[in-house]
Amino acid sequence: MSHVRVAFGVAVTAAFLVAVDAAHPADPARSDPPTFAADVAPIVFANCSSCHRPGEVGPFSLLTYEDVRKRAKMIDRVVSEKLMPPWHPVEGHGEFADELALTPREIETIEKWVAADMPEGDRSKTPALPKFIDGWQLGEPDLVVKMAKGYPVQAGGPDIYRNFVIPLGFKEDRWLTAIEVRPSARAVLHHTLFFLDESGEAQKIDGQDGKPGFRKMLNATEGQLLGADTAGLGGWAVGGMARHLPGGLARKVPKGSDLVLQSHLHPSGKAEVEQTVLGLHFAKQPPKRSMANLQMPPLFGVAAGLDIPAGEKAFKLADSFELPVDAEAVMVGGHAHLLCQTMQLWITPPGKTERESIFFIDHWDFDWQNQYQYADAIALKKGSKVEVELLYDNSSDNKHNPNDPPQRVRWGEETTDEMGSISLLLVPAKESDAGELQAGIRRQRIASMARNARKAAGGAGGLFDGIAKQVKQLDINNDGKISKDEIPAQLRPMVARLDSNGDGDIDAKELAALTGEEPAPDAAPAAAADETAGSGIKLAGADGKSYWPQDTRARVANVVIFTTVDCPIANAYAPEINQLITDYKDKPLRVYLVHVDPDVTPEAAAKHAKEYGYVGPILLDPKQELAKKLGISVTPEAVVLKSGSSTAYRGRIDDQWGDLQKKKPAPTKRDLRLAIEAVLAGKTIATAKTKAIGCDLPELPKGK
Ligand code: HEC
Repeated sequence: MSHVRVAFGVAVTAAFLVAVDAAHPADPARSDPPTFAADVAPIVFANCSSCHRPGEVGPFSLLTYEDVRKRAKMIDRVVSEKLMPPWHPVEGHGEFADELALTPREIETIEKWVAADMPEGDRSKTPALPKFIDGWQLGEPDLVVKMAKGYPVQAGGPDIYRNFVIPLGFKEDRWLTAIEVRPSARAVLHHTLFFLDESGEAQKIDGQDGKPGFRKMLNATEGQLLGADTAGLGGWAVGGMARHLPGGLARKVPKGSDLVLQSHLHPSGKAEVEQTVLGLHFAKQPPKRSMANLQMPPLFGVAAGLDIPAGEKAFKLADSFELPVDAEAVMVGGHAHLLCQTMQLWITPPGKTERESIFFIDHWDFDWQNQYQYADAIALKKGSKVEVELLYDNSSDNKHNPNDPPQRVRWGEETTDEMGSISLLLVPAKESDAGELQAGIRRQRIASMARNARKAAGGAGGLFDGIAKQVKQLDINNDGKISKDEIPAQLRPMVARLDSNGDGDIDAKELAALTGEEPAPDAAPAAAADETAGSGIKLAGADGKSYWPQDTRARVANVVIFTTVDCPIANAYAPEINQLITDYKDKPLRVYLVHVDPDVTPEAAAKHAKEYGYVGPILLDPKQELAKKLGISVTPEAVVLKSGSSTAYRGRIDDQWGDLQKKKPAPTKRDLRLAIEAVLAGKTIATAKTKAIGCDLPELPKGK
């Protein structure tokens, strides 16, 4: 909060300076605060508006002065903390196409503008919005394919991983140069990775649990095991730019193979249906050059001994590889789960000792996995050493840590397990070296497996045999079969875990149980009618009635939860808020949902309530009188008022968000519920104040 206070202090000073400046307009030494028209609009239009406009992934529009001014505080925060635009590679470690990051100067301009209380400047000088392309960004695709059925994503609960099969049925091999993704529910599809399945297995298990697709299984190593080598197909992450593979490269789609999407879906607070549409672009003829995917450590670190003690702050996973031929690096990307903090890749040219870093992510964020294409391919000489290092923080300092207190974490498929690797997409400099490059990568994989095999304690994973038919990469001796001793020990427990009744097979029920998909909460009962005239601040309800949410006379407590229609975090809490209303419906307390957006209309609030299933009083606090009175700073934030209208608790609903964009799979502490329980029991609340994580209150209109 000190941040806001500082900004406010500067604002006062800046306003003072502006007043002085106005009296001496010709003073050359003056430093005007930046204005929207001249300084901020060009930054926002070029870096934010492509996603923050109607129909795109951003949760609200950033197209006009009012749009930006209203969100100024939060924009200041997300650009200073480099959360937006979403771009994770650190500058100076490789140059990439479509870099999204703001320059330090641009960040400073926004900070100064906010500190100066967001002057608009000369409106007529505001630049025109860029011409955004609606529809397919790469032009009309050669083929448009679509998930056969929509997948229902419930309002709340944990994130969902699901594979969707899209049968292609090509009669001959084709060569893909690009895949453009169009989600049907933009708020829920967070990212999707593309794989090809030559085995037909994916189609067989599709829909077996009664819903479209299938849950992760072979994607224990995130799809690598699905069959075809899918290097270079890549994936798509929220807001990701569609682009063609560079340099005439293309990915082979063997005839008869199916496309498999491994999608990560974020419940958004309301039930949605995702039915992804894909635009495929093909090369006219087979490419002259081939690609090879160097993954380090191989197979997402399955054999690298990932075993992180509880509390360990800097667990290191490292690997190195010597290039057997001259090659070019064209694309890079990483994969890890919640404990990973940094990942980096270095190159040491042959005969040199100094290594150069060409990929570095210093704030790994599981939610924004992406692949990055080098602006220019990087030429690497035969004998170059490629090194990677991933660092994991399994202490409670890591705001993403899913365990509180921290627990030992090993390699595994669940989000709460860990994985880790960096993939570098290579193209041999001479196509005649392609075989040698592939062989080198294969040798590295085998060596890694062998290291693990030596460590493994033996024991058969019989169940894995059925699945393992597709696990081509595990076939070390290349005899077309996966024998038990080729299955890394770390994979065995994972497979055994799928089989909860121990009967040797994995049925639909066991799969469903694993998805963690809880049934949607029951609808809450209808709210009681109007309030009688009470004490405290009076607010209008979306239903046109008047309410006095501070008046606790008729009850033991009132719970007031602040929200807006477009704060993604507040919206994601809708199921929990509804559950809370249901759980306490027979108790002497009442839950009020209060909108703090100055522009929200009763109709918009009612529509929002309907979309997110809210029942019970929806109130409007457009001047933020109640919010300010109760000391609220973000949405969602909750206040428990007990009799006498005193504040018994103020803060977060629970700790699922450790910070902005640091969401845990599940909350470990439900502070609001603990507070309510205490008040109802007449006890003192253990933690009366917590820090709520969410969207800053929207700015009020100027002069009001
Ligand atoms: C590539 C698409 C994309 C770009 C470019 C982008 N945003 Fe976002 N922004 C998003 C998405 C998606 C979210 C919702 C994040 C979520 O729900 O986790 C978001 C959320 C936000 C939020 C709400 C805070 C949060 O973390 O949820 C703010 C504020 C914001 N963006 C500001 C900006 C600004 C300012 C810029 C430009 C400097 C920008 N964004 C550029 C996609 C984008």
